[in-house]
Amino acid sequence: MSLLDATAEHRRLSADLKTHNTAYYQNDAPSISDAEYDVLLRTLRELEILFPQLVHSDSPSQTVGSAPARGFGKVQHSVPMLSLDNAFNGEDLREFEGRVRRFLGLGPLEDIAFFAEPKIDGLSASLRYEKGEFIQGATRGDGKEGEDITANLRTLQDLPLNLDGRETAIPEMFDVRGEVYMSIADFQDLNQRQVARGSKVFANPRNAAAGSLRQLDVAITASRKLKFFAYAWGAASDVGGASQFEVLDQFSKWGFSVNPLSKVCKNMAEAIDAYRKIEELRAKLDYDIDGVVFKVNRLDWQSRLGFVSRSPRWAIAHKFPAEKATTTVQDIEVQVGRTGALTPVARLDPVTVGGVVVSNATLHNEEEIQRKDIRIGDTVVVQRAGDVIPQVVEVVLDKRPENTEPYLLPTICPVCGSHAVREKNIATGKDDIVRRCTGGLVCSAQAVERLKHFVSRTAFDIDGLGAKQIELFYTRELIKSPVDIFTLEENDRKSLQKIKNFDGFGDKAVRNLFSAIDDRRKIDLDRFIYALGIRHVGQGNARLLAKNYLTLDELLEVFSPEQTEPGKMYVDLLNIDGIGDAVADAVKEFFSEETNRKLLADLAGQIKINSFDVPDDDSPVSGKIVVFTGSLELMSRAEAKAQAENLGAKVSGSISAKTDILVAGAKAGSKLKKAESLGVTTMTEQEWVEMIGQS
Ligand code: IVH
Repeated sequence: MSLLDATAEHRRLSADLKTHNTAYYQNDAPSISDAEYDVLLRTLRELEILFPQLVHSDSPSQTVGSAPARGFGKVQHSVPMLSLDNAFNGEDLREFEGRVRRFLGLGPLEDIAFFAEPKIDGLSASLRYEKGEFIQGATRGDGKEGEDITANLRTLQDLPLNLDGRETAIPEMFDVRGEVYMSIADFQDLNQRQVARGSKVFANPRNAAAGSLRQLDVAITASRKLKFFAYAWGAASDVGGASQFEVLDQFSKWGFSVNPLSKVCKNMAEAIDAYRKIEELRAKLDYDIDGVVFKVNRLDWQSRLGFVSRSPRWAIAHKFPAEKATTTVQDIEVQVGRTGALTPVARLDPVTVGGVVVSNATLHNEEEIQRKDIRIGDTVVVQRAGDVIPQVVEVVLDKRPENTEPYLLPTICPVCGSHAVREKNIATGKDDIVRRCTGGLVCSAQAVERLKHFVSRTAFDIDGLGAKQIELFYTRELIKSPVDIFTLEENDRKSLQKIKNFDGFGDKAVRNLFSAIDDRRKIDLDRFIYALGIRHVGQGNARLLAKNYLTLDELLEVFSPEQTEPGKMYVDLLNIDGIGDAVADAVKEFFSEETNRKLLADLAGQIKINSFDVPDDDSPVSGKIVVFTGSLELMSRAEAKAQAENLGAKVSGSISAKTDILVAGAKAGSKLKKAESLGVTTMTEQEWVEMIGQS
């Protein structure tokens, strides 16, 4: 067959397959049998094997009906996908604006224009285009690494496979980001079809969109009518605009859907107005939104503002008030978490709140229960906002049955029987709000929860070792500490109680489990720190710590009991942008504690912990310890510090022999003298700016 003939044949087959796809996936009315369809598709694939030049991104061989993959591949996000800070009221917004103003050093009269966009309730995705062609799409994942869902995304109607370059130039490379969602009408249709088929019904459009997008069988995704709004970007060879508005305008010219309610507001007052208008329209929209996102419109300001941990300083999400419903409290149970915290949970008569059935609500702690006087048998108002756990807002006192009693949290741990106490907070001198089990390592609830956290998706993420397996292995005394995970195979070999003989296991499952564990013998420092489950140390703070200390050895050394200046460790922690008192306390306590240090040493013998890569290796200040003093004139202190840190420097608040550079602003005093006496390099603010090459 000649290339010419092959091209004609390929075109004919593609067109036929596309017609059948529409009939099958969109109209639910197949025009040919599955077997006939398979013959067409196979012929097309064979043709493409003989003439690879015919393979094109929108060939039916690439879009639908492709053989289910065995799992999703991983995609590294070259620019991390971040989350947003939340504001719940006008005051939070004013504070946000104040922070932006101070950081940029703007006067009180200078207007800051914000771009207001509805916050779409779906899932974010990142789409890579090269020379205008869609080549790869990924989920957000943990923000650094997502899953390759290219084939699924190709089935979205409003995702251009090729960018339209008629009105505006197409860059070499561009990562378009936005939200995949399902319209309310499509969600209702889908649920009707699910009921008819006896399949699972989705709780809300967001869950339906999630369940539809992450499908190994792309045909299922194609049948679900997902949509996409573009609102952000990652890496780009040329951003193509100077403001949020200009870039989004460019997206729409390229062929993306951009949310029509988004607009530029010349200041915060206008932005708040835009929020109110969008809130009024909310009920009439054909898709779910859960708030309004405000972004500083100017991109030069966005890049100066940068990020703190997982969220940009230049954006905030103003959430809509939570949805509410009334129900009764059947019982109050106490859960013990991984840090020993006793959390009372209300078991409720199931009730639908904003489309989701709620049967549990957190009661937080005993003060909260006392303040609201929540009792078993009470009728209560519950609310649910976004993904957070439902909460009890208030008790309907008129409906309180007779003979109820105030609820008291137990003073002994319901799991291990140790005392549960409210410790004194060192900083405030007040009783800690949380009652904690003092059982520590003897409390199985704490141990089990800590292990579950250790293997969870955002931590070690070990395939086949989830909450259920951890509980099983813990009860059988096979895994009592994180180290046991990595010696599981070795110990199994020596044991008579073989895992392969456990219910639900078998040879293959056990082999897979051991190999999944082996796959995780290498881990990045930030993930590792997060996995430890230190109080107050979520993914964001774990990253801050990793970025600041770079290696586990450094952390162990800084917090070693041999440290001669123990107060310094604390100050050192507080110097990290984004770390506050409570976090510093918890980190210091964790790394100084002997049992934890032993655990870390044991773990280090089993796994390899990758040191944190300093973001910018060739910057002149990478790895240097820098101190700013005096009053800075070219930028705010916060900006100077953030910029230095982005370039890989460590910013400290005090001068010591270890300091590399002191940047002295106007009226620098004792620090400058001390630096000079210690022979530390000193420079003016202007010299600093010139050295880092950004003015
Ligand atoms: S901007 C760097 N804009 O909200 C900023 N996010 O809480 C990244 N979302 O993961 C996000 N609508 O899934 C942005 N107009 C919008 C959004 C939006 C919905 C989601 C997105 C993100 C999450 C952050």
